[in-house]
Amino acid sequence: MKLAIIGGGGFRVPLIYGALLERRPFDEIVLHDVDAERLDRISLVLDGQAAEHGDKAPFRTTTDLDDALEGADFVFVAIRVGGLEGRAIDEGVPLGHGVLGQETTGPGGICFALRTIPAMLDLAERVPPNAWVVNFTNPAGMVTEALQQVLGERAIGICDSPSALCRRVAAALGEPPERLSFDYFGLNHLGWLKAVHDGTGDRLPELLASDATFEEVELFGAEWLRSLGMVPNEYLYYFYFADDTVAALGERPRGAYLLEQQAGFYASEGDTPERALARWRAAKDERDRTYMAEARDGAEGHSHAEDEPGGYEAEALAVVEAIAANAGAVRILNVANRSALPFLDERAVVEVPCVVSSAGARPLAVGPVPDHARALIETIKAVERATIEAAVTGSSALAVTALALHPLVPSVKAAKAIFAGYRERLPALEERFA
Ligand code: G6P
Ligand code: MN
Repeated sequence: MKLAIIGGGGFRVPLIYGALLERRPFDEIVLHDVDAERLDRISLVLDGQAAEHGDKAPFRTTTDLDDALEGADFVFVAIRVGGLEGRAIDEGVPLGHGVLGQETTGPGGICFALRTIPAMLDLAERVPPNAWVVNFTNPAGMVTEALQQVLGERAIGICDSPSALCRRVAAALGEPPERLSFDYFGLNHLGWLKAVHDGTGDRLPELLASDATFEEVELFGAEWLRSLGMVPNEYLYYFYFADDTVAALGERPRGAYLLEQQAGFYASEGDTPERALARWRAAKDERDRTYMAEARDGAEGHSHAEDEPGGYEAEALAVVEAIAANAGAVRILNVANRSALPFLDERAVVEVPCVVSSAGARPLAVGPVPDHARALIETIKAVERATIEAAVTGSSALAVTALALHPLVPSVKAAKAIFAGYRERLPALEERFA
């Protein structure tokens, strides 16, 4: 089987390669990137990993997209159009108006999607007809919905956050996650865990009533989790605690911090593979430690060790293995709704548990959800659809509509000011929405 990794010079590619060194589903691996220097830098890290492992999973690199895609059975896509410079603008412009930007689920995600979706649709047109596309590109829900316009159900979106939440809840219950069944529902970065079954009943009420602490308890407070009767995805912090986040961020969004942090890693030259791997690990640990720092009141985020289960590499490989082996494994993925959430139409991409087999990812029915969750999902889905249409048509009116409908944007006036700020700072956007 052939795997093409689009965005092969990306910082998290070594995580995928680490997983590929352990399990060998592919006999051909091709890394593609538009930036040859980033590709070289990451290749050196992969060489370091292979040397450490004592055995190499052969890979090659290319800047020719069609070369990478030709004959691919699976295509992993994690690209960042506009780089971290773009992220700093996506998050920084709203923040300049006192509004939380957030690069995925906030208004920052709208701007990010506006420049990412055209590139993703171009890619989709060039993907071989039988390939499965596993999309990690953020904002993953919106991007997957756009991809599905071309690829249908061959495009599957993944995120590491739902499974991480489920693992933490399992640990708090003192059970291995494989023994539990998780009723998780929503959109990407906008989901809730509403029940956890172990064969005897729902264990969530008991957990929420107890004084057990886990990450979401620390983030949201036990009282708020009890009020919801559910465990929200960590990204819902940006909705439930929006102004606290703005205050904690000050004037420096995460994108601006990462821009500097990552530049240091990519700029190092003349390293041996071993040295490049050590530098990558140091940069990764620092990135992990500062993850969601604005929500933690100075406390450190946990570093996700390379040999721990989880991470988006584990999600991606689980999808590959379940499709290749027709395994019928249950994974929480971003797929077309069908009838999983009955209040949305069947083509809306949602994030829910799916049965994954060689026929693809089939979403499981979720059943009723609390009104407030339904309302937020419907609002954000409307925002996503306005954004996708704006990206496809280049309509400024639709882009402003998407921003103005977003719950974090307080007014139409603010939406217009934010869009004007984006146009001013992003020449490509200014050109596209002329
Ligand atoms: C989580 C999310 C990803 C997101 C990442 C951001 O893993 O699930 O979708 O890309 O966090 O991390 P960063 O270090 O870029 O802020
Ligand atoms: Mn994610």
